[in-house]
Amino acid sequence: MNVSAAIAARRSIRAFTDRVITREELEPLFHDANLAPNHRLTQPWRFYVLGPEARAAYGLALGHRKARKATDETDAQRIRQETSDAHRAWPGMIVVSMTLNENPEIREEDYAATLMAVENLCLSAVAHGLGTHIRTGAIMDDPAARAAAGVPEGERIVAVLTVGEPLEMPAPKTRRPATELTHWRD
Ligand SMILES: Cc1cc2nc3c(=O)[nH]c(=O)nc-3n(C[C@H](O)[C@H](O)[C@H](O)COP(=O)(O)O)c2cc1C
Repeated sequence: MNVSAAIAARRSIRAFTDRVITREELEPLFHDANLAPNHRLTQPWRFYVLGPEARAAYGLALGHRKARKATDETDAQRIRQETSDAHRAWPGMIVVSMTLNENPEIREEDYAATLMAVENLCLSAVAHGLGTHIRTGAIMDDPAARAAAGVPEGERIVAVLTVGEPLEMPAPKTRRPATELTHWRD
């Protein structure tokens, strides 16, 4: 599959088959992610692959946050349990973090490079017959979520990916054409 075909076929996948994704399947994806362009070759990205227990703990951390909107404690308990169970059931989950350089300019470049690594990973997944969904949000700074993923002090979580065999191929989202967003200057 060439890169344009992989770009065209990539979707945010919300529904996966229940086939568990193995370490052997994920390693080529990390290899490709690690080839992302990166000023000064700082290689700021770190990948944490969460097994079922870690996923459930991460989901519980998320569930605690979602449960703040619960109507009562029974509802809150249901939300926590369902969110944790849903995470345990994912066929694969990867937390992507970056190291935090003390120089703000390098830190910003490193953030950009880490998201390039994420895109490499997502495209590589497509080329290997897998699908991904990137998620972000305040949960990434939650101590319980960080602990679930085993992300140490001195790193920032920048994206959380689910990965698996897509159950279906969602229709592409409507986008403005690139011609509308491109300005050619003499
Ligand atoms: C940096 C980043 C953060 C994202 N965060 C979320 C998120 O928190 N929740 C979510 O449902 N999708 C998230 N997405 C996925 C986008 O919503 C998705 O890429 C967009 O709707 C386009 O759909 P497509 O990926 O299928 O083309 C994120 C994507 C990126 C690149």
